Amino acid sequence: MKKIIITLLMTLMPALGMASGGGVHLDKVEIDLQNQESLQNGARLFINYCLSCHSAAYMRFNRMGKDIGFSTEQLKELMYSAEKVGETMTVAMRGEEAQKWFGTKIPDLTVVARARGADWLYTYLRTFYLDDSRPWGVNNATFKDVGMPHVLWELEGLKKPIYETSNEHGAEESKHITGYEIVQPGKMSKEEYDNAMRDLVNFMVYMGEPAKLKRYTIGIWVLLFLVVFFVVSYALKKEYWKDVH
Ligand code: HEC
Repeated sequence: MKKIIITLLMTLMPALGMASGGGVHLDKVEIDLQNQESLQNGARLFINYCLSCHSAAYMRFNRMGKDIGFSTEQLKELMYSAEKVGETMTVAMRGEEAQKWFGTKIPDLTVVARARGADWLYTYLRTFYLDDSRPWGVNNATFKDVGMPHVLWELEGLKKPIYETSNEHGAEESKHITGYEIVQPGKMSKEEYDNAMRDLVNFMVYMGEPAKLKRYTIGIWVLLFLVVFFVVSYALKKEYWKDVH
């Protein structure tokens, strides 16, 4: 009986997680950890735009360099916020300062991709919209009343939501967002921004589990070994049985 309950809970868990997302529609994102160019672009965005507030305390610069193919030179250039290559990605902003400015703690992002999921992150980064009632003038459709400003607005531009009002089943009227209208264009087109966010999320997924890349390579060697082993054992079998009829 205990087993059944545990199994049931395990199956329901992801669904519960989704429900807590407030029923927002999540856009799918293609994750490709083999794409070094995308990972490098994501790392650049992450270091330039996110690390000033968030930490990624469990990620080491030199490990990242090796994993995603940055040269030592490139790595040094990126590392203006860290002193030594072996250092983790920590931030200058202290906890109490963050509390003062943002009214909340700023979460570490090392494993956020595992906690929230890639699709959630991808959607979140593309659903900031103008909202005068919020302290930073923006709100987020995926994370309602988020304490984070739209730090990428220069790239994406600023957008206004398009609402649709519905009152299904005679219930109270409810407004939901069906799309956006750009009011101030950014440096990127929508497609460019979407691609940049895919790269950023790709990097965050890698960061959440750097060993995944290694596992892929190990997997390939294991398969190769099995193929070679099969050939050898087949040859042996033939040899042993050749005189037996
Ligand atoms: C100006 C400071 C600041 C910068 C820069 C910033 N953030 Fe944030 N971020 C915050 C704050 C504050 C929160 C907490 C929001 C809350 O709980 O309401 C947050 C929350 C988040 C969350 C939600 C975490 C969770 O699971 O609750 C994600 C994901 C996130 N940020 C990603 C990013 C990414 C990616 C970047 C870089 C593109 C970035 N942030 C840059 C301040 C910042």
